[in-house]
Amino acid sequence: MKTILLQKRHIHTGSLILVNRDYGYHTEENTSLIPVQEHTPDILIQRRAGILLSSLMEQINGWQHIVPVSGWRSLAKQQTIWDDSLSENGLPFTSTYVAVPGHSEHQTGLAIDLGLRQKEIDFIRPAFPYDGICGLFRKRAADYGFIERYPAGKETITGIGHEPWHFRYVGIPHAAIITEHQLTLEEYLFFIRQFRHGRASYHFRRNSQEISVSWLEADGNGCGEACLDTELPYSISGNNFDGFIITEWRQCDAYQKELRRASSENRSVPQPGMA
Ligand code: DAL
Ligand code: ZN
Repeated sequence: MKTILLQKRHIHTGSLILVNRDYGYHTEENTSLIPVQEHTPDILIQRRAGILLSSLMEQINGWQHIVPVSGWRSLAKQQTIWDDSLSENGLPFTSTYVAVPGHSEHQTGLAIDLGLRQKEIDFIRPAFPYDGICGLFRKRAADYGFIERYPAGKETITGIGHEPWHFRYVGIPHAAIITEHQLTLEEYLFFIRQFRHGRASYHFRRNSQEISVSWLEADGNGCGEACLDTELPYSISGNNFDGFIITEWRQCDAYQKELRRASSENRSVPQPGMA
């Protein structure tokens, strides 16, 4: 077991950070952005999310019928979208479908708006129905770490209107837990607080995977100490306000195979680390 020291800045990084009307996005260091796909080099997403999105799209031949509409946005870009929508559509519409600048998930590089490929594509509200290829995308999304972020009926929790087109990368297995229990990210981050790191954990089992998730509240200085078996893969994400979610792969065939191969070759295996 090893103690990992977590610092205040780590609260604001990772795939589970909550960015909404209450919690803004605090960092602009998006060094790991990549194009969502080669035909739209200006639409960017964080690397890990982009790799998983590409795998999903390849699986379902998605890019033939689906287009990326909006990915990473700078604060300035979000401000322009807000201002333009405000003058074109008014405040009730804008505050329903556009996050206040500084509070958009698009600024994190973890969100992607997708639209069904058609002649006219609405930039703010692209069509992304629940059947056909879009339905298939939705069905598989959780296995690749993505959730539909603004579902119908949860508008008062998310603070945003129903957006069938907006997907958020939260990582594996969180997307599967959120989708199975029909939670929003807000509700999931509240739910996971009962699993205190070192005392309890939420166990996720599927096929050969066994993953545990726990919650570590930051101390008065915004810091924390996670105690982990660093022989196995893990990831740590901040929640963007008061602590960290720790994800540990208890059993992972591919990784264990790699560990065995590495030990026979007398070399070390890189750790997944912060995610
Ligand atoms: N459309 C979403 C809420 C955004 O502007 O971030
Ligand atoms: Zn969006």
